[in-house]
Amino acid sequence: MEKKVYIETLGCQMNKSDSERILGILSHFGYEAEEENEANFYIINTCSIRKLSEDKAYSKLGVWGGIKKTRPDVKIAICGCVAQQEKEGLLKKFPYLDLVFGTHNIYELPELIEELEKPTPEGERVRICAIRDKAVAEKEFNIIRSKGINAWLPIMEGCNNFCTYCVVPHTRGRERSRDVETVIAEAKKIISEGFREITLLGQNVDSYGKDLPEDKNGVKPNFAKLLAELDKLEGNFRIRFTTSYPTDITDEVIETVKNAKRICECFHIPMQSGNDRVLKMMNRRYNRAQYSEIVNKVRREIKDVTITSDFIAGFPSETEEEFQDTISAINELGLDYSNTAAYSPRPNTPAGKMTDKFIPNDIKKRRLAELNDTVKKASLNSNTRDIGKTFEVLVEKIKENDDKNGNVRIAEGRSRNNKVVHFKSETAQPGDFINVEIKEALVWCLKGEETK
Ligand code: SAH
Ligand code: SF4
Ligand code: F3S
Repeated sequence: MEKKVYIETLGCQMNKSDSERILGILSHFGYEAEEENEANFYIINTCSIRKLSEDKAYSKLGVWGGIKKTRPDVKIAICGCVAQQEKEGLLKKFPYLDLVFGTHNIYELPELIEELEKPTPEGERVRICAIRDKAVAEKEFNIIRSKGINAWLPIMEGCNNFCTYCVVPHTRGRERSRDVETVIAEAKKIISEGFREITLLGQNVDSYGKDLPEDKNGVKPNFAKLLAELDKLEGNFRIRFTTSYPTDITDEVIETVKNAKRICECFHIPMQSGNDRVLKMMNRRYNRAQYSEIVNKVRREIKDVTITSDFIAGFPSETEEEFQDTISAINELGLDYSNTAAYSPRPNTPAGKMTDKFIPNDIKKRRLAELNDTVKKASLNSNTRDIGKTFEVLVEKIKENDDKNGNVRIAEGRSRNNKVVHFKSETAQPGDFINVEIKEALVWCLKGEETK
């Protein structure tokens, strides 16, 4: 039987990167990526950050369970953060599920696949749940990266912060940094494959290296030094990174980004709330004033830097007044863009147990709508500030649009500070770096003209 795998990926970039690794491992065992309808091995790589993301995974499993009714030989697997959280309970809940594996053991997949494919004496069905509490060491496998100009490069995984609302420390475990040499080697490979942008991933990139030993010269690795090393690599490429924990951003990191050639001027610094009491309840290790200080410092040091954030509306016990502090923070700090979410109670988290303090759904919804409205206005304001500037745009795709003047060829790409820019061009190709003067600001993108 031909081995045809379809993997669906929910959640963050870390999951996307894991899926590329999973596909790489499976390719060693003869599996080829296939369209959803034609596959015979289905994998869902799940996210548990909110209940909604968890439910999405279950509804997909339901769809594939339906396929299995007519094609009993298909195999169905679940991995990622929901798998790590729910473990063998999933096998009970979904009778058509064949394999459950977690975030800590994707490098165990070869053995799991072998076990799954091995014929049994009675021909009975094999069902496996393999979840580890400690990470299984990574092995050398190909990575089947999704095509495009950007490649994900995880530099560390896990989180030690235990914000009271968040499942990530439970689903991804404690912080683990990958060796400097491993990261550099992977970056070189990415560049040699023709990618133009590397995004370094970590739940907290600034914690990079804290768990690594000193190198042979007695130097302790850290995020700033890693950035500086990567900046020295040869090639025509950009470097981005995410996510930064506000009070962990060091002066050395700011200095490095400021002086580097390839590192883009963009920081994702989740604030979560603009109110000090709520921040404390969230177990965030900063207050509004300290967050503002960091943002102002980054802006002072780095020209045209974009600062983006995440906010939660309706954390348990949040009052209307406290919520308004979030709205005022976005405006006061001039944040360029923010991801938003209504608070969702998660298993194993302290906030999930504050049931007597939960905010009713309709109030959360209204606050989220107000938050989104504020983010939209902030984004337009930020884009308006860019009119007249000239940005180097890395072209990602070309669109042919019909307008009243006939067919026009529009190039779409991103500026170094991560703004989406559209401009007319007869010649631009994906992967080109082109200077564009910004002429017009829309809510989610900029329009400009190629400068000669
Ligand atoms: N490591 C990053 C964020 C990881 S999770 C950080 O330190 O901020 C991505 C975002 O999901 C978080 O920033 C938070 O805003 C949101 N989030 C996490 N748990 C949530 C929950 N229970 N309900 C709603 N949003 C949540
Ligand atoms: Fe979650 Fe907080 Fe860790 Fe971010 S820092 S992953 S929000 S626990
Ligand atoms: Fe979701 Fe896990 Fe990422 S919970 S946001 S997929 S680390």
